[in-house]
Amino acid sequence: MRKILVTGSGGLIGSTVVRFFSDLGFSVIGIDNNMRQNFFGSEASIQENLNCIIKEVKNYDHHAVDIRNAEEILKVFKDVRPELVVHCAAQPSHDLAAKIPLDDFHTNANGTLNLLEAARNYTKESPFVFLSTNKVYGDNPNKILIKESKTRWQINEKKWKHGIDETMSIDHCVHSLFGVSKTSADLLVQEYGRYFSMPTVCLRGGCLTGENHMGIGLHGFLSFLVKTNVFGLPYTIIGYKGKQVRDNIHATDVSSLIYEYYKSPRVGEVYNIGGGYSNSISVLEAIGLIENISGNKQSYDYDNTPRVGDHICYYTNLSKVKKHYPTWNIKKNITQIIEAMVLKWEEKLHYTEG
Ligand SMILES: NC(=O)c1ccc[n+]([C@@H]2O[C@H](COP(=O)([O-])OP(=O)(O)OC[C@H]3O[C@@H](n4cnc5c(N)ncnc54)[C@H](O)[C@@H]3O)[C@@H](O)[C@H]2O)c1
Repeated sequence: MRKILVTGSGGLIGSTVVRFFSDLGFSVIGIDNNMRQNFFGSEASIQENLNCIIKEVKNYDHHAVDIRNAEEILKVFKDVRPELVVHCAAQPSHDLAAKIPLDDFHTNANGTLNLLEAARNYTKESPFVFLSTNKVYGDNPNKILIKESKTRWQINEKKWKHGIDETMSIDHCVHSLFGVSKTSADLLVQEYGRYFSMPTVCLRGGCLTGENHMGIGLHGFLSFLVKTNVFGLPYTIIGYKGKQVRDNIHATDVSSLIYEYYKSPRVGEVYNIGGGYSNSISVLEAIGLIENISGNKQSYDYDNTPRVGDHICYYTNLSKVKKHYPTWNIKKNITQIIEAMVLKWEEKLHYTEG
């Protein structure tokens, strides 16, 4: 039986990858120590999600190991020797990183180095997929000319009109400490590919989401916005008049891309991944669409100070990844993504109300 090792297996992307590859007949080894609860508090715990996985997923073996522990990670790789590694464990928040720079860097950068070293020692031929981020570009996307329309900012420069591609510079910009720890990891993943001829890839995600996202104020804007709408809570729009644009991709569409890469891996590759223009939405537009779907009016206030380094208008140019993997396609559009989120949060609300 083919084996996949997934780090961050209780988180949004990790848990989706676990189920996706289990359905394909893989045996799955998960690593997650619920640091998410540590980072964001008990409302962000992945324990419930993890319990469901352990109960429902066939051939799933869990290791509550910390990726910062190089020795333990080496041991898991030595025992398991997976045919595919998908590295999703991270401190994922742009804003939280500034409050916990050491934990952020040790998890995102050192943790990734530990995994690469273990892979180099025991599974050098196995594809290694790293969930990177579009924050590697720092605030460089904000230097693109934009124009304002009624509900969103629009790109107004020919070179970038189809979105941000991999030629965007990662240099000379404000990244946030999260951006720096993830960029360090991204460069390490590329380097292990090129220097040691390993099949490694960085997937530089925009907004990766889905109904299993446990959005919180500091991470997962769409999920959190839907939650506040369903629970009748106020939402604070932060900066850019609420016209900032994000493209959203469902976690299952990320998983299917990982499978394409597994079947046809390349060395030291980098792809921007996201929902592209057709799955892009501004905060104001998202509020309108959620209200239509849920039937609930959203209450919100506005804080005029943008988050440091926050993107004004970002959507992904998917040309490169589509050229390399032409059979891969995005299956879930933005309306379907939000519809599923509304249902999920409604279920949780009814459960809470008992
Ligand atoms: N969700 C997004 O919008 C998005 C966007 C771009 C990039 N990414 C990247 O995708 C990856 C997955 O993101 P996600 O949204 O699923 O995040 P998540 O927070 O839902 O999942 C991350 C998981 O990693 C685990 N973890 C954290 N530190 C750990 C440690 N030291 N040892 C073991 N486990 C640890 C957490 O407990 C959590 O379950 C991350 O690398 C993130 O940076 C996510």
